[in-house]
Amino acid sequence: MVFLLFGVLFAFPYATMESIKVAESYWTLKTNELVVDEDMANYGSQLLVPLLCGEAFEGQDIMWRRNSGEELQERGNRILVMVEERQGGTYNCYSREGSYLNHTLVLVHWPYRKIIKGTPEKGYIYCSANNYNGSFQCSWTWDEKRADAGKVVLIKVTRSHQVGNITCDLTSSGHGVMCQDHAYCPYAEERDQVNLTIYFRSDYVIETYRLQFQISGIVRPDMVRISKNTTTLELQYPETWSTPSSFFPLTFQVKEIHCCKKKCDCSNSIPRKVKLTQGQMWPIKQGVTVCVRAQDDLCNSSWSEWSRFK
Ligand SMILES: *[C@@H]1O[C@H](CO)[C@@H](O)[C@H](O)[C@H]1NC(C)=O
Ligand SMILES: *[C@@H]1O[C@H](CO)[C@@H](O)[C@H](O)[C@H]1NC(C)=O
Ligand SMILES: *[C@@H]1O[C@H](CO)[C@@H](O)[C@H](O)[C@H]1NC(C)=O
Ligand SMILES: *[C@@H]1O[C@H](CO)[C@@H](O)[C@H](O)[C@H]1NC(C)=O
Ligand SMILES: *[C@@H]1O[C@H](CO)[C@@H](O)[C@H](O)[C@H]1NC(C)=O
Ligand SMILES: *[C@@H]1O[C@H](CO)[C@@H](O)[C@H](O)[C@H]1NC(C)=O
Repeated sequence: MVFLLFGVLFAFPYATMESIKVAESYWTLKTNELVVDEDMANYGSQLLVPLLCGEAFEGQDIMWRRNSGEELQERGNRILVMVEERQGGTYNCYSREGSYLNHTLVLVHWPYRKIIKGTPEKGYIYCSANNYNGSFQCSWTWDEKRADAGKVVLIKVTRSHQVGNITCDLTSSGHGVMCQDHAYCPYAEERDQVNLTIYFRSDYVIETYRLQFQISGIVRPDMVRISKNTTTLELQYPETWSTPSSFFPLTFQVKEIHCCKKKCDCSNSIPRKVKLTQGQMWPIKQGVTVCVRAQDDLCNSSWSEWSRFK
């Protein structure tokens, strides 16, 4: 008897939801914007999404249109609409007399990576900080096909454990964000990670990109400044680097290369001499080009770009 009962209970839901499922996972991006999580493996290509015109219109005869198209068959304050093959849309609701009441933008969150360029190995978004004052920037490259339609709709940034106070703004170029951790202490050990999630939209599709890093892991000094007198080059800390330099030391990598005519490339030339040094003086030699870059002496983070002196 017990087995029979279970059999009936389990068989029933499967029988009623053969191919089209009511979306189990959806969330509000902003007021009037609904995002449906499309899990291709589980849902297939068709989803029923519940829409509400407004609490105030309960029990009224409401009609609906998608993107100002034909009137939908479904009527009423609460309807289920079919979102097929990643096609979201703006669903407008109207009174029986035809006056506009409200709308819901339905977007589909898919697992693909098409809006910006990159690969899972190399990543999609590149973040760096040019010092330890708590600011950092992240940038990306739009996919050519989405460069016009693509936009950032939401940025979420938190600390993984501590309570942080990080704000981010889109850069004017539209290719990146500038962030500032207002609670960041340059002199203390950074104990937790920055969690950054950027939501990109193109047409009715949403893609999310998550990053986790520490500022000490993404720090990359700006270019070394080189000044000279007759005999000596002085390697100067970048103006943007944190001070005092005794607390934020840099290591310089100095490379002496021979440049043939116009070709003079610090990163590809075979060096005659390479040295790691904290010292800031370097003797000038005739016919030798000096390449210098800097790295945080206390962390194995990125090297600056090369500076060159001929
Ligand atoms: C319109 O829809 C939004 C989002 O669902 C809701 O917050 C708002 O109350 C609705 N407006 C009216 C007049 O019901
Ligand atoms: C931060 O990201 C990690 C890994 O993505 C996740 O496990 C953790 O729950 C996130 N923490 C917060 C506070 O969002
Ligand atoms: C976050 O930092 C900003 C800028 O310093 C400040 O105006 C704001 O009050 C801070 N917010 C919190 C919750 O501490
Ligand atoms: C060049 O600078 C170095 C280091 O500051 C100094 O020792 C040297 O005397 C200077 N030479 C001249 C000619 O100024
Ligand atoms: C942090 O450093 C950046 C780069 O040098 C600078 O633009 C910014 O104003 C600094 N912010 C603070 C709060 O010192
Ligand atoms: C520093 O990082 C580079 C590149 O990620 C790696 O090849 C190297 O082994 C690291 N060195 C140390 C001392 O951790």
